[in-house]
Amino acid sequence: MRVPVGVKVGAFSLLVMGGYAYFANSIPQIESKPPQELSLEGGSVTPAQLVRAGEEIFKTKGTCEICHRIGQKGTRAPDLAGIGGRAGKARAGTSATQYLVESLLQPGALLVEGYPNIMPAVDKPPIALNRSELWALTAFLQSLGGTVDVVLADIPATAGAAGPGGAAAAAVKVPGDPAAGAAVFAGKGTCIACHKAGKLGASPVGPDLSQIARIQTPEYIMKKILDPAALGTVAGYPKGVMPPTLGQSLTAREYTDLVAFLLTLK
Ligand code: HEC
Ligand code: HEC
Repeated sequence: MRVPVGVKVGAFSLLVMGGYAYFANSIPQIESKPPQELSLEGGSVTPAQLVRAGEEIFKTKGTCEICHRIGQKGTRAPDLAGIGGRAGKARAGTSATQYLVESLLQPGALLVEGYPNIMPAVDKPPIALNRSELWALTAFLQSLGGTVDVVLADIPATAGAAGPGGAAAAAVKVPGDPAAGAAVFAGKGTCIACHKAGKLGASPVGPDLSQIARIQTPEYIMKKILDPAALGTVAGYPKGVMPPTLGQSLTAREYTDLVAFLLTLK
């Protein structure tokens, strides 16, 4: 990683970063509280600090590690080792910064070969990173084999809470009963034959759904049950194995309860 010199550090930003690091370290104990926001706008910060904050976000609030691993083939998503270098060559005329920012905000715009379009825009719920967090995260991705040169202005001002359907958008409420949905998962829905969901089940045939609501939108979860093939096949899993008939065999009530249950899996 090459770090441009001469960037001044403000006491303000140090305080913010310190607070964030403290928060990130204490996540296991306070998981049920909503994650704290990182704000760097207006403060100055060194590239090294930015990268460190980005790494924290990658591992915690960003939930990236549930799908991506660095230097190891992940289950649902590409290995991000070397992405900072690769990003500049992914598309002619697109800089590494532009490619990385687009990968985060419009993941479906340029799909990595062999992967379905399942990565959610990370500035929207459920991940819902703000502009500072996107900035830090981009710096971290650049540090993986590339040059850290992203500036706040590279992140669109409309990203995060300021954008349509952004972090500030109201959470989707599904009117089902999660407890009844858990019974559908383990019973009539037959999901448990292929999926683990928290304390329920242990089958490795399909992806572990224990944290599905942290990484996926309610729309994705609802559609996957009704028409699994339409959303592509999650990488590393067999195609055409998830039954396409679940939408017909479940009643509307059972389906709603099931979705309400899946949305508790965080
Ligand atoms: C639900 C799983 C999932 C989550 C969560 C997720 N990603 Fe992804 N990501 C994918 C998949 C699948 C692809 C490949 C398809 C595509 O290009 O969109 C991908 C592609 C990417 C790429 C492009 C990689 C390349 O080789 O060009 C980057 C960069 C990336 N993700 C970063 C992130 C970061 C950072 C986070 C966390 C804020 C994140 N992703 C969260 C699934 C996920
Ligand atoms: C016969 C096995 C099987 C059954 C039964 C099954 N699934 Fe799946 N499911 C899979 C497989 C395999 C995948 C991954 C491949 C794919 O995307 O089609 C998957 C993928 C998923 C995904 C996407 C996960 C991700 O990481 O993006 C969700 C959500 C899901 N299933 C929910 C359910 C629910 C809810 C039920 C019960 C109503 C169910 N499945 C029943 C095999 C099954």
